[in-house]
Amino acid sequence: MTDPARAALHAIWAAVAPAWGEHADAIDARGAVVTRAMFDAVDLARGDDVLELAAGPGSVGVAAAEVVGPEGSVVVSDVEPQMAAIAAERAHRRGLENVTTRVLDLEQIDCPAASFDVVLCRDGVMLVPDPTAAVREVHRVLRPGGRAAFAVWADRRRNPWLGVLLDAVTAELGVPVPPPGMPGPFSLADPGALEDLLGAADFTEVRVCDVETPLHVASFEQWWSLVPSLAGPLASLLASLPAEMTSAIRTRAAADLATFAGPDGYDLPGMSVVGSGRRQSAA
Ligand SMILES: C[S@@+](CC[C@H](N)C(=O)[O-])C[C@H]1O[C@@H](n2cnc3c(N)ncnc32)[C@H](O)[C@@H]1O
Repeated sequence: MTDPARAALHAIWAAVAPAWGEHADAIDARGAVVTRAMFDAVDLARGDDVLELAAGPGSVGVAAAEVVGPEGSVVVSDVEPQMAAIAAERAHRRGLENVTTRVLDLEQIDCPAASFDVVLCRDGVMLVPDPTAAVREVHRVLRPGGRAAFAVWADRRRNPWLGVLLDAVTAELGVPVPPPGMPGPFSLADPGALEDLLGAADFTEVRVCDVETPLHVASFEQWWSLVPSLAGPLASLLASLPAEMTSAIRTRAAADLATFAGPDGYDLPGMSVVGSGRRQSAA
């Protein structure tokens, strides 16, 4: 992928940054179980120097800052400056003096080698054109013995909370969304994909586990105001469609979601995969 194409991919996230800021507390709450699994996978401890990549509003990094305490530090980063600014504001509001924020591309991390004890990246690595390079970059910036954890979405079938939207858009447009070869939320959903990436980047002690991440919404309207507005490239695509097409997508998604309706709303299954590894200690 060319640099201008990459820049266009990054810019798409600028369009949804305000929605990520608006829903940041809900994003923290829904993802807390994955954040916890990532911390457990890297044995996050007081005093660790941590880098969070593709942080969005910084749920993971802000939570990590509480664990590492004032003896440690957290750099919360995102390629999209508005996302980094939202994370900075949230860390500031919590009085976290051990957090700094940076604009960093996870495919080319502008940090010296061996800078961090821990790198964390939730729902970011599957969105870049070259995840192999990204995981290698993470390995490079870790100190010997350092640990990394990545979370990605498991396959679309196990994530109807988002899959129904992609299915509805795909059906209405008559072409697969995202298009073949483009990165997307399920790009690393194949069994073994994350494990293979970690192995190829020379990580040791590679482990992978599934983490259930259901989404409860009180109504279809709540789902519609949340999921499409956060869905990066899809949000921009939806905004560009004629009203009748958006309306058809809504109708189709509502029909698919009805399967999950209960007495107090919708309980939508979700499944993440958390993969972790260690950079070999110096001999
Ligand atoms: C799905 S959101 C996940 C946000 C956050 N990690 C979370 O789990 O709540 C993906 C984030 O990745 C960021 N992103 C996309 N491409 C990136 C890249 N090449 N380097 C760093 N961040 C990137 C986007 O700006 C966006 O904030």
